[in-house]
Amino acid sequence: MCGIFAVVNDMSGDASQTVLTGLKKLEYRGYDSWGIAIKPGKSTPGVSLQIEKHVGKIGAATTNLPKGDIAIGHTRWATHGGVTDDNAHPHLDCSGKIAVIHNGIVENYLDIKEELIQKNHKFISETDTEIIAHLIEEKSKTISLADAVFETFNQLVGSNAIVVLDLTTETIIACRDGSPLVVGIDEKNNQFFLGSDVPAFLKFTNKVHFLEDGEGVIVSKKEIKLVMMRSSHIYLPKKIRWQILDWKHEDAEKDGYPHFLLKEIMEQKNTIAKTISINEKEIKEISNLIGKGYKTTFIGCGTASYCALAGKYFFANVGVESQIYGAYEYLPFSKFVNEKSMVVAISQSGETADTLIAVKVAKKKGAKIVAIVNSRGSTLERLADIVLSVGAGPEIAVVSTKAFTAQLSTIYLLSKAISNEYEKGKNEIKNLSDSLTNWMNGKLTDQIITLAKELMNEEHIYLIGKHLNYPAALEFALKLKESSYLHAEPFAAGELKHGVITLIQKGTPCFVLASNDDIKGEILSSAAELSARGGKIIGVAPFESQEFDLNIKTPDLGELTIFVNIIVGQLLGYYLGVGRGADPDKPRNLAKSVTVK
Ligand code: M6R
Repeated sequence: MCGIFAVVNDMSGDASQTVLTGLKKLEYRGYDSWGIAIKPGKSTPGVSLQIEKHVGKIGAATTNLPKGDIAIGHTRWATHGGVTDDNAHPHLDCSGKIAVIHNGIVENYLDIKEELIQKNHKFISETDTEIIAHLIEEKSKTISLADAVFETFNQLVGSNAIVVLDLTTETIIACRDGSPLVVGIDEKNNQFFLGSDVPAFLKFTNKVHFLEDGEGVIVSKKEIKLVMMRSSHIYLPKKIRWQILDWKHEDAEKDGYPHFLLKEIMEQKNTIAKTISINEKEIKEISNLIGKGYKTTFIGCGTASYCALAGKYFFANVGVESQIYGAYEYLPFSKFVNEKSMVVAISQSGETADTLIAVKVAKKKGAKIVAIVNSRGSTLERLADIVLSVGAGPEIAVVSTKAFTAQLSTIYLLSKAISNEYEKGKNEIKNLSDSLTNWMNGKLTDQIITLAKELMNEEHIYLIGKHLNYPAALEFALKLKESSYLHAEPFAAGELKHGVITLIQKGTPCFVLASNDDIKGEILSSAAELSARGGKIIGVAPFESQEFDLNIKTPDLGELTIFVNIIVGQLLGYYLGVGRGADPDKPRNLAKSVTVK
C-alpha cells in the first residue's frame, strides 16, 4: 500500500536525492503524499534529523534537504488520517531523534496511543504510524534501540513493515510481518538499501534478500545484521542468504515510452512468449496432481480474479472441473477444503491481503497451494507448495497488463499439460506472441486512438462476451475504468435480456467481444439485440459482421483470441485515460498492491 525506501552509506553523499529518486520508482504503491528524513552531514554528532513532507504526487518533486549519507523515505496511500502534510511519513518521536516510516495498519494503535498520552507523549498526526516512534522512544529509555524497535514491533497487531532511522546510533532498523520488505547490498560501494520493492534500488544492485515474516535487520554504516524476532528482548542472528535477481535497471525505466502503462502493454510481445520456457517442471507436477484427483480452486482479486475465471474456462475445455472465487469471498467456502484440494492463487504482487488470508486458511486445512505470481520474493511465494513464477518482470503501472497475460498464458499451458498437449500449447503461445509482434503496430494504435477520441465524452459503455470472452469483457471493462475513469460495465452476453438491456439507448456504445468459434452466431444475435435498441456496436473480434457499426479486427487465434481482445481494452483504456486527463500510471484512489483487508 505504501512505498518504503532507505539508504545507508549513500555514495553520492546526497542521500535525500537518492531516496527521492528511489521513491519515484515506488510511487505506484501510494501517491497521496511523500516524505524523507535524513541525518545531515557525515558522522557529525549533535545534528538533528531533518524532515521534508508533502501532500501529492512525487512525480516532479525536488528536495532541499541537506546532504548526508543515511536517509529514509516513504510514499503514502492513506488509511488512518486524511491526506495532510502532518499525516505524511516519516513520523518522529518527541525528541526528534527517531524517525519511522511504515507500510500496513496497526490495528491496536488507539490503545497504545492512549497509554503513551498518559506518559506525556505529544502526537502531531492522526496516523497509526506515529505511535510506533513514541513507543520505541519510551522503550529505549530502558533497553537498547534494537531491543526497543523489535519489542515495539512485536506489540503491533496487524500486517506491518517498519523502517526506523535513529539519529544517535546512525542506524536503520527495519522489520516485517505481513508487509513486504527487501534489503539490497551494493558491495562495491558499500551501500545498503531497504525497499518495499526492488525497483527502488535496482539502479544500484540486484543482490537482495527478501525479509521473511518475523525477520528484522539492523543496518549500520559497517554492516547489515539479519535477525529473527522471537519475542521481546530475544532476537536470534541469522545468516543472510543473498540472491541475485535477473532483473535489469532498464526493466524499471520507461525506456522512451511516455508512461509505464504503454511500455508494459507493448512488452507483452515478449513477456507472453517467456512463459513457454519456464515452469515446465512445476506445470507437470501440478498436472500430475490433478491427474491424481486433486480438485482445483482458483482465487485472486481484481484482474487476477478475471484471470482465474478465464482459467476455469481453459480447464473446462480440457475436461477438468474447477471452482473460482474472488479471494475476498472465499472464507464461507473454505469449509469444503480437504487434503485433496488444490488452491491456485493468482497474484501479480503476491502481497494482496485478501488473497493471502484465503491461502492461509486453505493451507491450514491441508490444501496444496499453487502460486501463480509475478513479483519475486513475495509472501504468497513463501506460502505456496508450488510456485509458477510468470516472469513478466517489474510491473510498475498500477493497472495490471503484462503480468495478467503472463499469468493467463501460464494457466493455458497448464491446461494443455493436463490434456497431454503441452508442446502444442507452447507452439500456440509462440504463435500468439508472433501475431502480437505483427499486429501491435502503428495501424492498430491509430485505430484505437480514433476510437478513443470518439468515446472520450461518453458516460457509460457496456460490454458483452460469452464463454472465454466473458472474463475477457470483465478485464477489458476494468482496464477502461481504471485507466480512464469511464463507467464501463461488462456482462455475460446471455444475461442481456434478463434486465441489462434496459440500459441501452440510441447511441449507447456497446462492445461485443467475440472469437471465431462455434458460439459466434449466439454472440452476434446478442449484438443484434443491442443494435435493435439503438446501441452503437463496436466489435472486437477476428471477423467482420454486419452487426458491427465499428470493428477492431483482432488476429484469429482460437481460444487464445481472448488475449488480443483484452489487449484492445488495455490500449483503449490507456488512450482514453491520456485523452481524459487521467494519469495512466497512477489512477486516482488506487494502489498497486492492496496489502490491507
Ligand atoms: O497483486 P495482485 O495481482 O494480487 O492484485 C490484485 C488486484 O488488486 C489487481 O489486479 C487490481 O485489480 C489491479 N488494479 C488491476 O489492474
